[in-house]
Amino acid sequence: MRSVIFAVALVWGATVAAENKKPPDKLVFPAKTGRITFDHAAHLKRRDGHCDFCHDKLWPQSTAEPLKSSDGCRACHQAGGMAFEMKGNCKRCHEEAGGKSGVQ
Ligand code: HEC
Ligand code: HEC
Ligand code: HEC
Repeated sequence: MRSVIFAVALVWGATVAAENKKPPDKLVFPAKTGRITFDHAAHLKRRDGHCDFCHDKLWPQSTAEPLKSSDGCRACHQAGGMAFEMKGNCKRCHEEAGGKSGVQ
C-alpha cells in the first residue's frame, strides 16, 4: 500500500515539473505588420504567477511553432475582456516598422 502511494506521488511530481519550464522575460514575434513585443513577465504578474490561463490551452510553453495569429491574445484583448481590445489599438501591439507598419 505504501509503495503505491509513493509511486503516485512520484508520477505527480514528474508531471508538475514537466509542465512548468522557466518563463521567459520578453518575447518578440515578427509580423509583416510590425513586430510585436510580448512582455511575458508583465502578463504573468497580472495572472498572479499562474500559467494555466495561457498554457497549454492557448499556447505551448515553447516558441518553436510560429504563433500564426493573434487569436490567443484575443481571449483577453477584446471588448468587455480583461485587457484593451484589438480594434483601434493595432499599434499598441504592432510596433511601427519604419512608418510602414501596415496597420492603422
Ligand atoms: C498571459 C499568457 C501567458 C501566461 C500567463 C504565461 N505564458 Fe508562457 N507564453 C505565453 C506566450 C504567448 C508564449 C509564446 C508561445 C508561442 O510562441 O507559441 C509563451 C511562451 C512560454 C515559454 C517558451 C519560451 C521560449 O523562449 O521558447 C515558456 C518556457 C513559458 N511560456 C513558460 C511559462 C510559465 C512557466 C508560466 C507560468 C509560471 C507562463 N509561461 C505563463 C503566454 C503566457
Ligand atoms: C490572460 C489575458 C491576456 C492574454 C491572453 C494576453 N494579454 Fe496582453 N494584456 C493583458 C492585460 C490584463 C494587460 C494590461 C491591461 C491593459 O493594458 O489593458 C495587457 C497588456 C498588454 C500590452 C501592453 C503592455 C503590457 O504588457 O503592459 C501588450 C502590448 C499586450 N498586452 C500584448 C499581448 C499579446 C501580443 C498577446 C498575445 C500573444 C496578449 N497580450 C495576450 C492580458 C492578456
Ligand atoms: C493584443 C495584441 C495585438 C493587437 C491589438 C493587434 N494585433 Fe495583429 N497580431 C498580433 C499577433 C501576436 C500576431 C501574430 C504574429 C506572429 O504570428 O508572429 C498578429 C498578426 C497580425 C497580422 C498577420 C501578420 C503576418 O505577418 O502574417 C495582421 C495582418 C494583423 N495582425 C493586423 C492587425 C490589425 C489590423 C490590428 C488592429 C485592428 C491588430 N493586428 C491588432 C497581435 C495583435
